[in-house]
Amino acid sequence: MRGSFSRVVRRQAVKACLTAMLLGAMLVPARAWAAEPLRLCADPANLPFSSDQAAKPGLYVEIGRAIAAALGRPSETVWSLSYFGKRNLRETLLAGQCDIAVGLPDEADFMGPRVIFTKPILSLGYALLVPPKTPVLRLDDLAGRRVAVQFGSPPQSLLATRNDITGVTALSPEEAVQSIAAGKADAAFIWGPSAGYLNQSQLQGAWQVIPVSGPGMQWRAAIGLSRKQPALRDAVDAVLPGLSGTITTLAAAYGFPAGEPIKVGSAAAPGAVVLTTEDQPPPVAPSDAQSPDPKMVAEGKELFNGTCAHCHGPDAVVSERRINLRLLKHRYNDEMDQVFLFTVTHGRPAKGMPNWTGIFSEDDFTRILAFLKTIQQD
Ligand code: HEC
Repeated sequence: MRGSFSRVVRRQAVKACLTAMLLGAMLVPARAWAAEPLRLCADPANLPFSSDQAAKPGLYVEIGRAIAAALGRPSETVWSLSYFGKRNLRETLLAGQCDIAVGLPDEADFMGPRVIFTKPILSLGYALLVPPKTPVLRLDDLAGRRVAVQFGSPPQSLLATRNDITGVTALSPEEAVQSIAAGKADAAFIWGPSAGYLNQSQLQGAWQVIPVSGPGMQWRAAIGLSRKQPALRDAVDAVLPGLSGTITTLAAAYGFPAGEPIKVGSAAAPGAVVLTTEDQPPPVAPSDAQSPDPKMVAEGKELFNGTCAHCHGPDAVVSERRINLRLLKHRYNDEMDQVFLFTVTHGRPAKGMPNWTGIFSEDDFTRILAFLKTIQQD
């Protein structure tokens, strides 16, 4: 009895020992992986985003470090100049030189399927930099002023459509702020993170930085990885919700614009809208069987005329058939809703249709669709 008992015990002990050895063999590489530094791809001279200055590493480096810490891994920064954008990413991120690139635009077609993304971490965009104590609630509040814009930027195109605001062209956000200092401009309409950073570093943080939304004005930044790293991407996605407070605090510390954005579409288009509403009274009879909520339709129309009308025509009256949104029903029939929602949330970047995710809410899209349904033609 005893003998067999101890034999059993011994056998069990041997088994446990073997199991432990096997587990140990399996755990070693896993532990080594966990301890490996998370390598951040970053530009050494791109404040407020990243910098090799120890005292001020930049928002993206700090976010990368917070992610590494949340994953229980040390971090390491792999520096490379980002001037060449995609070429730089091909040679670093995609060549396996570093693991994550914080702050890439959250667009599936950014670099094709070779780059995969986490969930968005931040909304970035253009902003107004205006003197203290100047109330600015809409673009019209800048009427009569000289506003510095960067050459070739969406704000420059937008101001070109207004004869009440003088655009002062600059080659960089720094130059825009210099033209203010030199008395050549009263305000600037520039890339928001730069506006916030220059306000902190050159204007003692005394100016107001007001984010702006509208066509081409805002987009979302995510973290990019090589498609060979789906497990790391999922691991990062899993820790991001817990870091959202940290990210907001860090963004504020680097002066990134926060708060409710001014919608420029609604300020830029009224002239055009009034004209067409005059010669085109809004259709009363809905083309749809369900009667739409008139309030929703009116709100949808306002949103549409504020933003979409720039390309699709006020009240969706436009001569070019290809972009005529009065033909959605005719074109897609029962799939109209689906095509609409997919197109507004993905855009058709190659064709010039922006992605409106993050600029409009789902409710806004529903309202715009409700409006469009009232004006469909056969
Ligand atoms: C900068 C110009 C521009 C703006 C602003 C714009 N669009 Fe478009 N949109 C386009 C272009 C160009 C196309 C046509 C793409 C193509 O040829 O497939 C398009 C296509 C579309 C389509 C698909 C049409 C079809 O028949 O397949 C929808 C729906 C649409 N836009 C909705 C909107 C809405 C809603 C807004 C406002 C929130 C908007 N667009 C703002 C340029 C724009």
